[in-house]
Order: sequence, then C-alpha cells, then structure tokens
Amino acid sequence: MDKAIIAIDGYASTGKSTLSKMLSSHLGLPYIDSGAFFRGITFLALEKGWINNENIYQEAIELGIKDIKIYYNTSDNKLILNEIDITDKIRSKLVSSNVSKIAKLPFVRFFILKQQRLMGNSFGMVMDGRDIGTVVFPNADFKFFFTARPEVRAQRRWEEMKANGYFLSYEEVLKSLMNRDKVDTERKFSPLKKANDAIEIDTSDLSLEEAFTILISKINYK
Ligand code: CDP
Repeated sequence: MDKAIIAIDGYASTGKSTLSKMLSSHLGLPYIDSGAFFRGITFLALEKGWINNENIYQEAIELGIKDIKIYYNTSDNKLILNEIDITDKIRSKLVSSNVSKIAKLPFVRFFILKQQRLMGNSFGMVMDGRDIGTVVFPNADFKFFFTARPEVRAQRRWEEMKANGYFLSYEEVLKSLMNRDKVDTERKFSPLKKANDAIEIDTSDLSLEEAFTILISKINYK
C-alpha cells in the first residue's frame, strides 16, 4: 500500500502495538510506536531528576528537551535518545507509572507532534497511540480505536512484563493501567478518545488472528 496513514488509538494493552506491527508488515508500511517517544522523554526526565516522587519540574523539562535528539528507527523498532538505544529501558515500572504525567504537558506533546507529522508525511505508516486519529493525523486514511475489558488488559500486561523480567503483582498492574487510563482520558490537551470516524474494536474476546482479520477486512472494504 502506498503512503497510506493508518491510525491505531486506544487504551493500554488492547493489542494496539502487536496488531500495528502485523498490519505494517502485511501492508509494507513502516510502523511507529508513538508511545515510545513519551516513554523516552519520561525516562530522560527520571534520569535527570526533572521528575521525582510527586514533583514535576516543568521548566527543567521544557528547557531540557530542546537539546535532545530522539528518534524512532522503523527498521528495527528501536528508540534512540541522543544516539543511545533506550528501547528496553522505557518499559520499566517506573517509566510506566510516570509517563502519563509527562504526556499531559502541552510542550512535550508539541515537541513530539512535530516529529510524528514529519515521519508520517514522508513515508505513510501505521502509527499507534492515543491521539493519532484525533489530533496528529485527523485526515488519516484509516482510523481504529481499540478497547478491551480492564481485567483482560491487566492480565495481558502482567504476562508481558513477566516475560520481560519485570515481576509485579496482577493488582499492581491493574492499578497502574487504570491510573494511566484516567490521566490519559481526562487530560486537557489531546485526551484519549475515539475519533468520530474511527472504527471501534473490542479485543477482549478476540485472538490476535481474529482481530487482524477484522482490521484487514475493514481496510479492504473501504
Ligand atoms: O503500550 P501502552 O498502551 O501501555 O502504552 P504506550 O503506547 O507505550 O503509551 C504510554 C503512554 O504515553 C500513554 O499512557 C500515554 O500517557 C502516552 N501517549 C500519549 O499521550 N499519546 C500517544 N499518542 C501515545 C502515548
């Protein structure tokens, strides 16, 4: 497929990134994980002490991000910050529990928005996130919005974290997901919400193959 923009938004652990990668290889389009950018900035903010405990030093973040180079490599799905590969570090519990607070900040969103638009305009792509169909690419060729029951999402994320060597309890994972959803849906700028023209898919009771078949059928049908 040529230069099409496919926006995949929705709640955490609904299968967005796995299905976006499947779509990307099926359609021959690059895949961009927009959440990785927000996680990358959060990782940096934690490292630099721009955020600690409940304090967020907004001026430091606003000034600090002016000097950084953050880049998503679509050929191997790596996030590169100032020439260093931080892909594995951005999935930690600490990054996950702070990322929504950083993603709320308008200057962080604006900084990332510029990069998102640049990447999409030059190649076409599959991009997943929270505001791709509503704000980043409101004219995307296809828009999907993923949901799933919270217990199912927490179970999936718990298994994923365990497989990656992070040992948290199911309750902790559920609580963290619910907190993130709350901050993401209630924020003032670019909140998580379904675009009017997005197709909603509830993946609670679908296998990956079933969800993929639905996606492809919607794309072929249009
Ligand atoms: O993979 P998961 O669904 O857990 O989250 P993610 O896509 O890595 O996104 C992490 C966080 O970044 C989200 O909870 C949002 O706070 C923020 N985010 C956002 O605000 N806008 C996006 N387009 C993507 C992510």
